[in-house]
Amino acid sequence: MAEDAAVPTGIDSHIPNAARMYNYFLGGKDNFPTDREAAERVLTIAPEARELARQNRAFLRRAVRYLVAEAGIRQFVDIGAGLPTQGNVHEVAAEVDPGTQVAYVDNDPVVLSHARALLSSTTNTIAVQGDLRDPEAILDDPELNSLIDFTEPVAILLVAVLHFISDSDKPDDLIGRLRDAVPRGSYLVLSHVTAEERPDTAHQAAEVYRDANMSVTLRSRERILGMFDGFELVEPGLVREDEWRPDQEPLAGSAGRATPTWFLCGVGRSM
Ligand SMILES: C[S@@+](CC[C@H](N)C(=O)[O-])C[C@H]1O[C@@H](n2cnc3c(N)ncnc32)[C@H](O)[C@@H]1O
Repeated sequence: MAEDAAVPTGIDSHIPNAARMYNYFLGGKDNFPTDREAAERVLTIAPEARELARQNRAFLRRAVRYLVAEAGIRQFVDIGAGLPTQGNVHEVAAEVDPGTQVAYVDNDPVVLSHARALLSSTTNTIAVQGDLRDPEAILDDPELNSLIDFTEPVAILLVAVLHFISDSDKPDDLIGRLRDAVPRGSYLVLSHVTAEERPDTAHQAAEVYRDANMSVTLRSRERILGMFDGFELVEPGLVREDEWRPDQEPLAGSAGRATPTWFLCGVGRSM
């Protein structure tokens, strides 16, 4: 999406967009000059941002593979799904069981139009518009309910999205409402940016998002851990993304531990 002339109706290409900036970090083409400029400002402050975005996707893939192959999960609700990239949830899950049902949810219309185009010939997978700040609307969505059976265990994916939820929107409460809607033995997959390891860099990078369509709230390890209330963390607990079961998918060419991180992640099983 290099030229404004190609901008679909209703899309503002003049405000940096968090989903498209992330797409740029991942080497995608679904972004506009404004997104690239903002992303480059982040990269000037924190050159590791590209590597961290890749690590986040790698964590997501490993978590999905673990849930389908080892935990027996066959239903995913991926909220804040983002623009389609390589190794999407339904593709990773289908490698283990093609019958796995995946509902992508995002509040960004650009994300939705790309996801729907990608999924037009796919069964067992849908994309619906929804906002994490209104969990009941997501849970009541008729299309989502036609695919996801909420009497059976579900994995709720909140990967790299909760830092876009401000404290005033009560993220713990939102997670609790999702947790209460799924049966025991369901899972929460979560990653979140933190200022713990490099506070100055993280705060400066987060500052860039003040001009974007959504701002970033950095949270402490303790606050992120608290988001797993009602869930039992599976091993290895809340860790850096390159430390979550890395043996299942070695990070080829990754700087690994040498890369400072702003991300913590974990997978929890509802009790
Ligand atoms: C950084 S991307 C993460 C994409 C994917 N989950 C991943 O980790 O690779 C964040 C996504 O969350 C979406 N998002 C932000 N706030 C949201 C909200 N309140 N409800 C639903 N989606 C939201 C954005 O539109 C964007 O697509």
